[in-house]
Order: sequence, then C-alpha cells, then structure tokens
Amino acid sequence: MAAIRSIDALDAAGKRVLVRVDFNAPVADGAVTDDTRIRAALPTIRKLAGDGAKVILMSHRGRPDGTGFQEEFSLAPAARRLGELLGVPVAMAGDICGDDARAKAAALADGEVLMLENLRFDPREKKNDRAFCEELAELGDAYVNDAFGTAHRAHASTAGLAELLPSYAGYLLQNEVDTLTGMLDAPRHPFCAILGGSKVSDKIAVIEALMDKCDTLVIGGGMCFTFLAAQGYGVGTSLKEDDWVDRAAAMLRKAGQKGVELLLPVDVVCADRFAEDASTRTVAIDAIPADMMGLDIGPRTARLYAYAIGRAQTVFWNGPMGVFEMDAFAAGTEAVARAVAANKAADTIIGGGDSVAAVNKFGLADAMTFISTGGGASMELVEGRELPGVAALQR
Ligand code: 3PG
Repeated sequence: MAAIRSIDALDAAGKRVLVRVDFNAPVADGAVTDDTRIRAALPTIRKLAGDGAKVILMSHRGRPDGTGFQEEFSLAPAARRLGELLGVPVAMAGDICGDDARAKAAALADGEVLMLENLRFDPREKKNDRAFCEELAELGDAYVNDAFGTAHRAHASTAGLAELLPSYAGYLLQNEVDTLTGMLDAPRHPFCAILGGSKVSDKIAVIEALMDKCDTLVIGGGMCFTFLAAQGYGVGTSLKEDDWVDRAAAMLRKAGQKGVELLLPVDVVCADRFAEDASTRTVAIDAIPADMMGLDIGPRTARLYAYAIGRAQTVFWNGPMGVFEMDAFAAGTEAVARAVAANKAADTIIGGGDSVAAVNKFGLADAMTFISTGGGASMELVEGRELPGVAALQR
C-alpha cells in the first residue's frame, strides 16, 4: 500500500484546515451517549489547534434523507461534547458551506475550532458531487481525513475533496490503517480470528480473507447455524441462511485443505422464542430441539474457544457470539471477551461494530491492544478491498 501523508508533514500554523472526522455518534435528549469516536479524533484536533490552525470539522451523522436540515441528525450535540472534551467552546455552523459556515470560518482565530452541519443534509455529499467538493474546498487551505469509520465511502468529504486541496491523514485514520494492515501482513502466530454476528452472507468475504492469514477461525453468533446445517446438524428454528449452506460447506472444506482449525460450537443455549424471558435450555449441538432456536454458544463451547484464544499471539475479533444485548444470552460473548482481554501476550484487535459494544458492556476496553472505530470500514479493509477514503490520500 502506498504511503499516506501524515499531518506531521503539514505546516498548519495560520492555515484553515478542513478535517473530515466521523462523529456518527448516538445521541439521546440532545446529548451524545457514546463519545468514543469524538475522543478518538482528539489527538488530531489538538495537534492542529495546537499548531495554530483554524480547524474546520466536517462529519456526517446518521442517514438523513438529504433534503436539508433535520434537527434529529444535527451535529450540534457532537460539537458541544467536543467542546467539553477540549475544554474550549467549539463554534457550530448552521449549515455546511453556506453563508453561516463561511462567516463563522472567516471569524475563526488561529487555534479555534468550528464544526460544520451534517454533510448528508446535502444530497451532493453521498454523490461525491464535484461542485459540492469545490464549495467545501473554498473553506480550507488544506484537507485532513481522520474519519476512518467512513473511509469505505466514496463521498465528497472522504474522496473528492482530496483532489482539490493538499491532503493528509489524521492520526486516527493512520493508526487504524497501520494496525489493521500490520495484522494482516505480518501477524504473530498463532493467529486466531473470532467471527460472530447473525449472517454468513455479511461475513463470507471476511472469512475467506482471514482463511488465508490465520491459524484458527472461531465461529459464533447466528451465522454458526448455517455452518452447523452444512455439517448436517438440525438447527431447530435458529437463524439459518438456506442459500448459504453450500458456501458454508465449501468454507469448511477449504479450512481443511489449508490446515486452518475452524471451531464451531459444541453446545448452544436454546430458547423457545426471541425474548429475554424465553424458556431456555443448554443442549449439545446434535440435540437442538426442532421448536427452539440457538441464541448463544454454550459453556463447553465458551471454554473451547477461550482455550484457542489463550494460545494465540494475535487475536482479531468481530461479531458477538450470541444475543449479548439480552442478559440471558450474553454469557458466551462475555466469556470470549474475557478470554481475549486475559491474553496479555497477544496483540488483541477488536474490529469495530457490535464487538466494541460488547467489550464496553463488560468493561474490558482498556484490556485490548486496539479497538477499531470503524465497523464497515475495518471489515472492508480486512476483506482486502480498497478504501476510497484511504486511496484518495495516496494519489
Ligand atoms: C459507521 O457508523 O459505520 C460510519 O459512520 C459510516 O456510516 P454509514 O454506514 O451511514 O455510511
């Protein structure tokens, strides 16, 4: 992968620097409820402000319909939270690159920070529209992309803008790319990848890519039932993707040919319905009742997986082992999270999305080597796909 230019190469003093961040953070009652992504961008923002740049932040939040301002998708709560974290107020523009944004950008003193409104209020953002890129570019002298979580989108603020201004990678984006590519290119062995989540169809490309890199592949979550069906087990009313059973069978054969140890559950926690207060039974994998669904890995499986994780020198985890949001089906995910956290000899990398929520739920975030801020972006990077937001910085 060609090198990307770091903000360390940017002489930012006195310059207007447009910084794409990913402040796509949850908000309730006008306040950010999880500020992980905002905190993750602080090193870049502090560095630029400290160097005397006029820092102009751009982000999307959620998926507004692109017809203009919608209060529920405003970035104002993120700007307020950023101001609290920085200890200085962050100005908030009422638009993206309209009169208010231009006036507030022009009024910035060196070292001050301005947040533009949600880029996706303008439909041209997702279309990577050239005229929109030009309007944004007028606000800045240089462009920094620190939005790793959005690097898999070829939008105006993540791709097109990089063609119009001198472009640099922020610390977060650089660190994410370095960590994940380092894991793929030169992992310490044994390399254990843990994949969960509900659907094989969502993860097949990741499984295939990791099959070429890892020694052990641990599979949990709803998608394990498609694999178990491929092995000929009855899976009751568990989630199963019939169209993917053959592909899962091919994956099992490929693992055998490559000498990759592919671990599937040996027992599961079953429920009579998808509900916290369902009747549950823990059964061996060949005894799933026809009228029950598996919603978590069982305790014997958790021990088996923990043993594999404990032997590894590199661990990559994406996707929960069960419906961990419900306490009745959280034990498998918690056991895996604890096993990853306990392996202090390994590089432990959490690949975004629900696994991050799980690690946070069990209070284990500090015990991990690296937690990605990108769900979709980190999966696409692991799949070996080019990320438009990164590629744009390499040209
Ligand atoms: C994310 O949360 O995965 C990123 O912010 C990208 O959001 P998107 O899937 O709406 O493009």
